[in-house]
Amino acid sequence: MKAAVSSVIENQLQNNEFLGDVLEGLGRKRKTLPCKYLYDEVGSRLFEEICDSQDYYLTRNEADIFTTYRDEIAQKFGPETLLIEPGAGNCEKVEELLDAMDSPRGYCPIDISPEILLEAEKRIKKSLPEVQVWSEVGDFSQSEVWNKLIHVSSRKKVIFFPGSTIGNFEPLEAERLLKLFASNLGAGDGLLIGTDLVKDSVILERAYNDSDHVTERFNLNLLQRINVELGANFDLSLFAHRAFYHPLRQRVEMHLVCLKNHSISIADTCIDFTEGETIHTENSHKYSIAGFKSLLTRSGFESVCFWQDPAKTYVIHYAQAI
Ligand code: TRP
Repeated sequence: MKAAVSSVIENQLQNNEFLGDVLEGLGRKRKTLPCKYLYDEVGSRLFEEICDSQDYYLTRNEADIFTTYRDEIAQKFGPETLLIEPGAGNCEKVEELLDAMDSPRGYCPIDISPEILLEAEKRIKKSLPEVQVWSEVGDFSQSEVWNKLIHVSSRKKVIFFPGSTIGNFEPLEAERLLKLFASNLGAGDGLLIGTDLVKDSVILERAYNDSDHVTERFNLNLLQRINVELGANFDLSLFAHRAFYHPLRQRVEMHLVCLKNHSISIADTCIDFTEGETIHTENSHKYSIAGFKSLLTRSGFESVCFWQDPAKTYVIHYAQAI
Protein backbone atom coordinates (compact mmCIF):
# COMPACT_ATOMS: atom_id res chain seq x y z
CA MET A 1 0.00 0.00 0.00
CA LYS A 2 2.78 2.35 1.04
CA ALA A 3 4.65 1.59 -2.17
CA ALA A 4 1.50 2.22 -4.23
CA VAL A 5 0.94 5.60 -2.54
CA SER A 6 4.52 6.69 -3.05
CA SER A 7 4.43 5.69 -6.72
CA VAL A 8 1.24 7.76 -7.18
CA ILE A 9 3.03 10.74 -5.62
CA GLU A 10 6.08 10.13 -7.77
CA ASN A 11 3.90 10.04 -10.90
CA GLN A 12 2.27 13.30 -9.89
CA LEU A 13 5.62 14.95 -9.33
CA GLN A 14 6.82 13.80 -12.73
CA ASN A 15 3.60 15.05 -14.35
CA ASN A 16 3.99 18.43 -12.64
CA GLU A 17 7.45 18.77 -14.08
CA PHE A 18 6.20 17.65 -17.51
CA LEU A 19 3.31 20.15 -17.33
CA GLY A 20 5.62 22.97 -16.25
CA ASP A 21 8.05 22.26 -19.09
CA VAL A 22 5.23 22.00 -21.67
CA LEU A 23 3.58 25.26 -20.59
CA GLU A 24 6.91 27.04 -20.48
CA GLY A 25 7.87 25.82 -23.99
CA LEU A 26 4.50 26.55 -25.57
CA GLY A 27 4.34 29.95 -23.86
CA ARG A 28 7.36 31.21 -25.77
CA LYS A 29 7.15 33.37 -28.84
CA ARG A 30 8.86 30.62 -30.80
CA LYS A 31 7.16 27.55 -29.39
CA THR A 32 9.29 24.62 -28.37
CA LEU A 33 9.06 21.35 -26.41
CA PRO A 34 11.98 19.57 -24.70
CA CYS A 35 13.04 16.60 -26.83
CA LYS A 36 13.47 14.26 -23.86
CA TYR A 37 9.67 13.93 -23.69
CA LEU A 38 9.63 12.29 -27.13
CA TYR A 39 10.79 9.10 -25.43
CA ASP A 40 7.83 7.63 -23.56
CA GLU A 41 7.16 3.93 -24.13
CA VAL A 42 5.45 4.50 -27.50
CA GLY A 43 8.08 7.07 -28.53
CA SER A 44 10.97 4.78 -27.58
CA ARG A 45 9.48 1.99 -29.70
CA LEU A 46 8.93 4.32 -32.65
CA PHE A 47 12.51 5.46 -32.24
CA GLU A 48 13.66 1.84 -32.52
CA GLU A 49 11.69 1.66 -35.77
CA ILE A 50 13.42 4.82 -37.06
CA CYS A 51 16.77 3.22 -36.33
CA ASP A 52 15.81 0.20 -38.45
CA SER A 53 14.53 2.27 -41.38
CA GLN A 54 16.40 2.31 -44.68
CA ASP A 55 16.65 6.10 -44.92
CA TYR A 56 18.07 6.56 -41.42
CA TYR A 57 21.71 5.60 -42.13
CA LEU A 58 23.15 6.60 -38.73
CA THR A 59 22.36 3.46 -36.69
CA ARG A 60 23.40 1.11 -39.48
CA ASN A 61 26.70 2.83 -40.22
CA GLU A 62 27.54 3.18 -36.55
CA ALA A 63 26.83 -0.52 -36.04
CA ASP A 64 29.21 -1.32 -38.92
CA ILE A 65 31.98 0.57 -37.15
CA PHE A 66 31.40 -1.38 -33.92
CA THR A 67 31.39 -4.69 -35.75
CA THR A 68 34.61 -3.88 -37.61
CA TYR A 69 36.57 -2.35 -34.72
CA ARG A 70 35.06 -3.94 -31.60
CA ASP A 71 38.28 -5.67 -30.51
CA GLU A 72 40.40 -2.58 -31.09
CA ILE A 73 37.88 -0.49 -29.13
CA ALA A 74 37.72 -2.99 -26.26
CA GLN A 75 41.52 -2.99 -26.08
CA LYS A 76 41.53 0.77 -25.51
CA PHE A 77 39.34 0.21 -22.43
CA GLY A 78 41.55 -2.46 -20.84
CA PRO A 79 40.37 -5.16 -18.39
CA GLU A 80 37.71 -4.85 -15.67
CA THR A 81 36.13 -1.73 -17.08
CA LEU A 82 32.71 -0.56 -15.97
CA LEU A 83 30.64 0.57 -18.93
CA ILE A 84 28.03 3.30 -18.28
CA GLU A 85 25.47 4.06 -20.98
CA PRO A 86 23.39 7.24 -20.57
CA GLY A 87 20.16 7.13 -22.61
CA ALA A 88 20.64 3.41 -23.18
CA GLY A 89 17.14 2.74 -24.57
CA ASN A 90 16.93 -0.89 -25.60
CA CYS A 91 20.69 -1.37 -24.92
CA GLU A 92 21.06 -3.12 -28.26
CA LYS A 93 24.38 -1.60 -29.24
CA VAL A 94 26.24 -2.54 -26.11
CA GLU A 95 26.13 -6.31 -26.24
CA GLU A 96 28.75 -6.67 -28.93
CA LEU A 97 31.03 -4.34 -27.03
CA LEU A 98 30.56 -6.06 -23.65
CA ASP A 99 31.24 -9.35 -25.37
CA ALA A 100 34.54 -8.06 -26.79
CA MET A 101 35.68 -6.53 -23.46
CA ASP A 102 38.22 -8.29 -21.23
CA SER A 103 36.39 -9.31 -17.99
CA PRO A 104 34.05 -6.28 -17.82
CA ARG A 105 33.38 -5.04 -14.28
CA GLY A 106 29.73 -4.46 -15.24
CA TYR A 107 27.24 -2.40 -17.15
CA CYS A 108 25.14 0.57 -15.97
CA PRO A 109 22.41 1.65 -18.38
CA ILE A 110 20.56 4.90 -17.58
CA ASP A 111 17.26 5.76 -19.26
CA ILE A 112 14.06 7.69 -18.60
CA SER A 113 11.84 4.87 -19.87
CA PRO A 114 11.62 2.21 -17.11
CA GLU A 115 9.75 -0.27 -19.32
CA ILE A 116 12.42 -0.29 -22.03
CA LEU A 117 15.20 -0.54 -19.43
CA LEU A 118 13.65 -3.50 -17.62
CA GLU A 119 13.22 -5.42 -20.86
CA ALA A 120 16.81 -4.68 -21.90
CA GLU A 121 18.19 -5.71 -18.51
CA LYS A 122 16.42 -9.07 -18.77
CA ARG A 123 17.81 -9.63 -22.25
CA ILE A 124 21.41 -8.81 -21.27
CA LYS A 125 21.26 -11.00 -18.18
CA LYS A 126 20.26 -13.86 -20.47
CA SER A 127 22.76 -13.30 -23.27
CA LEU A 128 25.70 -12.25 -21.09
CA PRO A 129 25.03 -13.87 -17.69
CA GLU A 130 28.55 -13.18 -16.42
CA VAL A 131 28.09 -9.39 -16.74
CA GLN A 132 26.68 -7.56 -13.70
CA VAL A 133 24.02 -5.00 -14.57
CA TRP A 134 22.95 -2.01 -12.46
CA SER A 135 20.27 0.00 -14.25
CA GLU A 136 19.06 3.43 -13.20
CA VAL A 137 15.90 5.23 -14.27
CA GLY A 138 16.44 8.95 -14.69
CA ASP A 139 17.42 11.92 -16.83
CA PHE A 140 21.11 11.53 -17.66
CA SER A 141 21.52 15.27 -18.20
CA GLN A 142 20.94 15.87 -14.46
CA SER A 143 23.47 15.00 -11.76
CA GLU A 144 20.94 13.22 -9.48
CA VAL A 145 20.90 9.98 -11.42
CA TRP A 146 24.72 9.94 -11.60
CA ASN A 147 24.90 10.26 -7.81
CA LYS A 148 22.92 7.03 -7.53
CA LEU A 149 25.70 5.22 -9.38
CA ILE A 150 28.50 6.35 -7.10
CA HIS A 151 28.36 3.15 -5.02
CA VAL A 152 29.49 1.04 -8.00
CA SER A 153 33.25 1.04 -7.62
CA SER A 154 35.59 0.21 -10.44
CA ARG A 155 39.24 0.63 -11.39
CA LYS A 156 38.25 2.04 -14.76
CA LYS A 157 35.05 3.54 -16.13
CA VAL A 158 34.01 4.24 -19.71
CA ILE A 159 30.93 6.23 -20.65
CA PHE A 160 29.34 4.88 -23.81
CA PHE A 161 27.26 7.49 -25.66
CA PRO A 162 26.40 6.26 -29.16
CA GLY A 163 23.65 7.21 -31.61
CA SER A 164 24.69 10.84 -32.16
CA THR A 165 22.69 11.68 -29.06
CA ILE A 166 25.20 14.43 -28.22
CA GLY A 167 23.94 16.10 -31.42
CA ASN A 168 20.53 16.55 -29.83
CA PHE A 169 21.99 19.15 -27.47
CA GLU A 170 22.74 22.75 -28.44
CA PRO A 171 26.52 23.30 -28.52
CA LEU A 172 26.67 24.99 -25.08
CA GLU A 173 24.39 22.34 -23.59
CA ALA A 174 26.53 19.63 -25.18
CA GLU A 175 29.56 21.16 -23.48
CA ARG A 176 27.72 21.25 -20.15
CA LEU A 177 26.71 17.59 -20.57
CA LEU A 178 30.22 16.44 -21.46
CA LYS A 179 31.52 18.33 -18.42
CA LEU A 180 28.95 16.47 -16.30
CA PHE A 181 30.25 13.20 -17.78
CA ALA A 182 33.84 14.24 -17.06
CA SER A 183 32.95 15.10 -13.46
CA ASN A 184 31.74 11.52 -13.01
CA LEU A 185 34.99 10.06 -14.33
CA GLY A 186 38.53 9.94 -12.97
CA ALA A 187 41.62 10.95 -14.94
CA GLY A 188 42.28 8.35 -17.63
CA ASP A 189 38.69 7.03 -17.66
CA GLY A 190 37.11 6.92 -21.10
CA LEU A 191 34.34 8.30 -23.27
CA LEU A 192 33.23 6.40 -26.38
CA ILE A 193 30.92 8.68 -28.30
CA GLY A 194 29.25 8.60 -31.73
CA THR A 195 28.68 11.71 -33.85
CA ASP A 196 27.11 12.18 -37.24
CA LEU A 197 29.25 14.09 -39.76
CA VAL A 198 28.30 17.25 -41.63
CA LYS A 199 27.27 16.15 -45.12
CA ASP A 200 25.05 16.77 -48.15
CA SER A 201 21.68 18.13 -47.04
CA VAL A 202 19.73 15.75 -49.31
CA ILE A 203 21.07 12.72 -47.44
CA LEU A 204 20.51 14.39 -44.07
CA GLU A 205 16.96 15.45 -44.85
CA ARG A 206 16.04 12.02 -46.16
CA ALA A 207 17.21 10.47 -42.88
CA TYR A 208 14.82 12.67 -40.88
CA ASN A 209 11.90 12.41 -43.33
CA ASP A 210 11.90 8.63 -43.82
CA SER A 211 9.62 7.31 -46.55
CA ASP A 212 7.72 5.09 -44.08
CA HIS A 213 6.76 8.20 -42.09
CA VAL A 214 7.96 6.72 -38.81
CA THR A 215 9.72 9.95 -37.85
CA GLU A 216 6.47 11.79 -38.48
CA ARG A 217 4.63 9.43 -36.11
CA PHE A 218 7.43 9.80 -33.58
CA ASN A 219 7.20 13.59 -33.70
CA LEU A 220 3.38 13.68 -33.49
CA ASN A 221 3.40 11.19 -30.61
CA LEU A 222 4.64 14.02 -28.41
CA LEU A 223 1.30 15.83 -28.82
CA GLN A 224 -0.57 12.58 -28.21
CA ARG A 225 1.43 12.08 -25.02
CA ILE A 226 0.52 15.59 -23.83
CA ASN A 227 -3.15 14.79 -24.54
CA VAL A 228 -3.06 11.53 -22.59
CA GLU A 229 -0.85 12.51 -19.66
CA LEU A 230 -1.78 16.16 -19.22
CA GLY A 231 -5.39 16.11 -20.45
CA ALA A 232 -4.75 18.47 -23.38
CA ASN A 233 -6.88 18.50 -26.53
CA PHE A 234 -4.43 18.67 -29.43
CA ASP A 235 -5.97 17.65 -32.77
CA LEU A 236 -3.07 15.78 -34.37
CA SER A 237 -4.50 16.26 -37.87
CA LEU A 238 -3.85 20.02 -37.51
CA PHE A 239 -0.05 19.52 -37.30
CA ALA A 240 2.48 18.23 -39.82
CA HIS A 241 6.02 16.92 -39.36
CA ARG A 242 8.82 19.01 -40.89
CA ALA A 243 12.58 18.31 -40.74
CA PHE A 244 15.23 20.32 -42.61
CA TYR A 245 18.96 20.96 -42.52
CA HIS A 246 20.10 24.38 -41.33
CA PRO A 247 23.61 24.77 -42.83
CA LEU A 248 24.71 27.72 -40.69
CA ARG A 249 23.77 26.01 -37.46
CA GLN A 250 24.98 22.68 -38.84
CA ARG A 251 21.92 20.87 -37.63
CA VAL A 252 18.74 19.12 -38.71
CA GLU A 253 15.79 20.83 -37.05
CA MET A 254 12.58 18.98 -36.42
CA HIS A 255 9.30 20.88 -36.09
CA LEU A 256 5.55 20.36 -35.92
CA VAL A 257 3.91 22.86 -38.26
CA CYS A 258 0.44 24.16 -37.43
CA LEU A 259 -1.85 23.83 -40.48
CA LYS A 260 -4.71 26.09 -39.38
CA ASN A 261 -5.39 28.90 -36.87
CA HIS A 262 -6.83 27.34 -33.71
CA SER A 263 -6.50 27.14 -29.91
CA ILE A 264 -5.92 24.23 -27.59
CA SER A 265 -6.13 23.94 -23.81
CA ILE A 266 -3.86 22.27 -21.29
CA ALA A 267 -4.79 22.33 -17.60
CA ASP A 268 -6.88 25.53 -17.80
CA THR A 269 -4.32 27.29 -19.97
CA CYS A 270 -5.41 28.25 -23.47
CA ILE A 271 -2.73 28.34 -26.18
CA ASP A 272 -3.26 29.94 -29.58
CA PHE A 273 -1.70 28.59 -32.75
CA THR A 274 -1.54 30.39 -36.08
CA GLU A 275 -1.25 28.72 -39.46
CA GLY A 276 2.39 28.16 -40.44
CA GLU A 277 3.79 28.60 -36.96
CA THR A 278 5.82 25.69 -35.63
CA ILE A 279 6.67 23.88 -32.41
CA HIS A 280 10.38 23.14 -32.47
CA THR A 281 10.75 19.62 -31.06
CA GLU A 282 14.32 18.49 -31.78
CA ASN A 283 17.75 19.37 -33.15
CA SER A 284 20.38 17.01 -34.45
CA HIS A 285 23.74 18.77 -34.71
CA LYS A 286 26.31 17.50 -37.16
CA TYR A 287 30.04 17.81 -36.43
CA SER A 288 33.25 17.70 -38.40
CA ILE A 289 35.98 15.58 -36.81
CA ALA A 290 38.02 18.67 -35.88
CA GLY A 291 34.93 20.49 -34.58
CA PHE A 292 34.06 17.62 -32.28
CA LYS A 293 37.63 17.22 -31.03
CA SER A 294 37.64 20.84 -30.01
CA LEU A 295 34.33 20.37 -28.15
CA LEU A 296 35.94 17.42 -26.32
CA THR A 297 38.92 19.56 -25.36
CA ARG A 298 36.72 22.37 -24.06
CA SER A 299 34.79 19.85 -21.95
CA GLY A 300 37.64 18.25 -20.00
CA PHE A 301 38.57 15.41 -22.36
CA GLU A 302 41.57 14.57 -24.48
CA SER A 303 40.86 12.95 -27.83
CA VAL A 304 42.66 9.60 -28.14
CA CYS A 305 41.50 8.24 -31.51
CA PHE A 306 38.48 7.80 -33.76
CA TRP A 307 36.95 5.26 -36.16
CA GLN A 308 34.79 5.74 -39.26
CA ASP A 309 32.62 3.68 -41.62
CA PRO A 310 34.00 3.07 -45.15
CA ALA A 311 31.74 5.77 -46.68
CA LYS A 312 32.89 8.22 -43.98
CA THR A 313 29.40 9.28 -42.95
CA TYR A 314 29.82 8.82 -39.21
CA VAL A 315 32.49 8.90 -36.49
CA ILE A 316 33.09 7.16 -33.18
CA HIS A 317 35.49 9.08 -30.97
CA TYR A 318 37.40 7.70 -28.02
CA ALA A 319 38.56 10.28 -25.49
CA GLN A 320 40.03 10.28 -21.97
CA ALA A 321 39.06 12.43 -19.04
CA ILE A 322 41.92 14.68 -17.90
N1 TRP B 1 20.17 11.06 -31.87
C1 TRP B 1 19.30 10.85 -32.99
C2 TRP B 1 19.67 11.80 -34.12
O1 TRP B 1 19.94 12.94 -33.88
C3 TRP B 1 17.90 11.09 -32.55
C4 TRP B 1 16.90 11.05 -33.65
C5 TRP B 1 16.88 10.35 -34.78
C6 TRP B 1 15.75 11.75 -33.70
N2 TRP B 1 15.79 10.57 -35.51
C7 TRP B 1 15.08 11.42 -34.87
C8 TRP B 1 15.23 12.61 -32.83
C9 TRP B 1 13.91 11.97 -35.19
C10 TRP B 1 14.05 13.15 -33.17
C11 TRP B 1 13.41 12.83 -34.34
O2 TRP B 1 19.70 11.40 -35.25
